[in-house]
Amino acid sequence: MPEDDKRIQTGVRGVDELIGGGLFEDTLTLVTGTTGTGKTIFSTQFIYEGAKKGEPGVYVSFEEPPENIKAHALKFGWDFSKLEKEGKVVFVRYDPYHIEDVYELIESNIKKVGAKRVVIDSISALGLYVRDVPELRRMIFNISLLLRKLKCTSILISEILPLQKSLSRFGVEEFVTDGVIVLYYLRSDSQYSRSLTVWKMRGTEHSQKLHPYKIDKGGVVVYPKEEAFVKM
Ligand SMILES: Nc1ncnc2c1ncn2[C@@H]1O[C@H](COP(=O)(O)OP(=O)(O)OP(=O)(O)O)[C@@H](O)[C@H]1O
Ligand SMILES: [Mg+2]
Repeated sequence: MPEDDKRIQTGVRGVDELIGGGLFEDTLTLVTGTTGTGKTIFSTQFIYEGAKKGEPGVYVSFEEPPENIKAHALKFGWDFSKLEKEGKVVFVRYDPYHIEDVYELIESNIKKVGAKRVVIDSISALGLYVRDVPELRRMIFNISLLLRKLKCTSILISEILPLQKSLSRFGVEEFVTDGVIVLYYLRSDSQYSRSLTVWKMRGTEHSQKLHPYKIDKGGVVVYPKEEAFVKM
């Protein structure tokens, strides 16, 4: 991917600096980590910041009800109600029993708001309904093709189980996506601390360090000039 391709700023403070200015347009990035690391907050922030500056967004949730996601977002000052009324954002809740409908669901909602940004939260929830891992890999690949065709810059969320060594729930998500951002919640002495690394970002230089981040009243904030020292 050439360096002069357009970058889409994530809007998550400190992240764009780690990846050369933002995500490449029309790419799919995996945001992965154990439960409670802030994947949903990170991704909500990505949708909110985009919609505010004229890049509509679709948030597809396979687990947490959108009402909860929006209520939590409000605590960070991200009020989605106006953006929804203006047709700049749509939250979609989907019970993944009929996985064959998922492409149609994604496509129709993207077209509804003319989305430039999409979040899928999470592939782990969806994956539980897929027959086997090769089928899931094919499915993620097809979703990535669809999102690219519709010219969306997208985040795919995956969970890592505690003590799991791979980067994602099923061990295939990281191969199909263009970039991987890993959120850690690790012990250092008597407390746990948050840190993040850019594991891969196709087509660009990126930080190879582990950076501390916080979740505060403005959402996720990463410290790109600081390094985290934690036991893996
Ligand atoms: N208003 C807030 N201020 C500070 N920290 C918060 C606030 N709200 C949530 N958090 C932190 O964020 C965590 C939840 O973040 P989030 O829901 O994004 O995690 P997640 O990685 O999506 O988890 P899961 O895998 O369970 O969906 C909470 O456990 C808490 O530590
Ligand atoms: Mg979540």
